[in-house]
Amino acid sequence: MTETQNYIQQNKQRFLDELFSLLRIPSISADPAYNEDVLNCANAVADFLRNAGADDVEVCETEGYPIVFGQKIIDPALPTVLVYGHYDVQPPDPLELWESGPFEPVVKKTELHPEGAVFARGAADDKGQFFMHLKAFEAMMKTNALPCNVKFIIEGEEEVGSESLGTFVEANREKLANDVILISDTHIYSMEQPTVTTGLRGLSYVEVEVEGPNRDLHSGLYGGAVPNPIHVLSRMIAELIDDNGHITIDGFYDNVEEVSAEERAEMNKLKDDPEHFKSSIGLRGVEGEKGYTTLERTSIRPTLDVNGIWGGYTGEGAKTVIPSKAYAKISMRLVPYQTPEEITEKFTKYFEKIAPDNVKVTVKPHHGGMPYVLPSDSEEFLAAKKAMEKAFGKEVLPYRSGGSIPITALFEKVLGSKSVLMGFGLDSDAIHSPNEHYGLSNFYKGIESIPYFFQYYTELKNA
Ligand code: BES
Ligand code: MN
Ligand code: MN
Repeated sequence: MTETQNYIQQNKQRFLDELFSLLRIPSISADPAYNEDVLNCANAVADFLRNAGADDVEVCETEGYPIVFGQKIIDPALPTVLVYGHYDVQPPDPLELWESGPFEPVVKKTELHPEGAVFARGAADDKGQFFMHLKAFEAMMKTNALPCNVKFIIEGEEEVGSESLGTFVEANREKLANDVILISDTHIYSMEQPTVTTGLRGLSYVEVEVEGPNRDLHSGLYGGAVPNPIHVLSRMIAELIDDNGHITIDGFYDNVEEVSAEERAEMNKLKDDPEHFKSSIGLRGVEGEKGYTTLERTSIRPTLDVNGIWGGYTGEGAKTVIPSKAYAKISMRLVPYQTPEEITEKFTKYFEKIAPDNVKVTVKPHHGGMPYVLPSDSEEFLAAKKAMEKAFGKEVLPYRSGGSIPITALFEKVLGSKSVLMGFGLDSDAIHSPNEHYGLSNFYKGIESIPYFFQYYTELKNA
C-alpha cells in the first residue's frame, strides 16, 4: 500500500491537470444544446479509464446519453467492487453570479480551503469525485496493488433522473455483477469530522397548474370578481405545511420509518452547530418540523419544498393583468419506507381536494426516486470507515444525508448489492449553485482513501 500511496503523492499535480480537462467540457445533460459536449465527455472518460489500465472499456449506447463501462478482472474468485459515478453536470445558471467561468476551472484559496479549491461546474458533483476513483485505480495498477476485481460505470444522465441507467442495469445483470458498489457523490460532515454517508432521501417531484379564467384578464375590468389563480395557488401551497412544520397531506407520514432513540443519539453525536449552520448560508433563523434537530430535519424526516413558482406578468414595468394560469414545481424528499409512487398519488389527491371549486387544478408528476439506507454495522460500511480513518487519521462516523441518488435503491433491487457512499465533498461546495468548488485536500484525501477501501473490503470478505 505504501507504494501506491507514494505513487499518488508523486502524481498529484498531473491528476489535477487531468481533472481540469474534464471540467472544461460543459456536459450539461438537461440542455439539448450541449448534446455534443456530453458525448465528448463520455469519450474523454473512456480514454482516462483505458489509460489507467482498465480492460473492455466501452461507451455503451442508450436511449439517452451513453454509459461508460470498464473493468479489471484479476481473479473471478476474488470480490468485485463496482464503482459508479456521473459525468453529466447541472446547468451553470445564473451565470452572472459566477466569479470565474463555470467551465474554466481555476484553483482559488478560501477561508475553508487555505490549501485551495477547484472552482468549476461539476468540480464536486461529480467529476472531481468519480475522477478520484480513476486515479486511485491507476495508482493501484501501476504499483501492482489492486487486491480484487473492479468494474466502472460512469453515466451521463444522473442530473436528469438516470432513466437510461435503470434500463441498462436491468439488461446487464451479469456484466455488472459485483459484491459491493462504491460511490463518491456525497459529502462528509466536515474536514474535522469525516463521515461515511449511510442514508439518502428519496424524491417525489411534481409540477402543478392552477387555471382560473380561460384567458388573461384586465385587472381593472375583472379584478374583484374572479379567482386569481396566483392567489389560489399561494393559499394552497401555504396549506401544505402547518405551524408545527408538519406536512398536511393525508397519509403523508403513514410509512415513515421511526428512527430508534439509539440511532438518533448516534447521529446527533455529530455536533450540530446552529450558529455555524446559519452563518454559512447567511440565514437569520432556522425552521422546520417541531421536535427534531436540524441534522434530523435534513436527513431522517421527509420534507416538502416549492422549487419555483410563476405565472402572470414578471417583465419590465407594470402590466395590469389577472393571469389565466399559475404554476409551481414542488419536490418532496422521502425517507424509508415511503415510495415516490405512493407520495405522488397522495399529493395529487390532497392537492385536488383542497382546490376551490372555481379553479381547475392539474398535477404533473416528474421523476422520482427511492430512499436508501446502509446499515452502520454492515461490513461494507466498516470497510469504508476503516479506509477513511486510515487516510484522515481521525474517527469516522456514520452520517445520513438529505440528498438523493435514486439509482442506489435500484442497484440493490436488481444487482442485490449494497452501495457504499464514500463521498468527500463538503456541504459548502455549492453544488448545483454558482461557484461550485471542490477542496484540493478533499480530492487528495479521497484518492488516498480508495485503495484502502479496496484492501480492507477484500480482507473482510476473505476473513
Ligand atoms: N450528488 C447529488 C446528490 C447528493 C449530494 C447526495 C450531496 C448527498 C449529498 C446528485 O447528483 C443529485 O444532485 N441528486 C439529485 C436527485 C436527482 C434525481 C436529480 C438531488 O438530490 O436533488
Ligand atoms: Mn451527483
Ligand atoms: Mn447533482
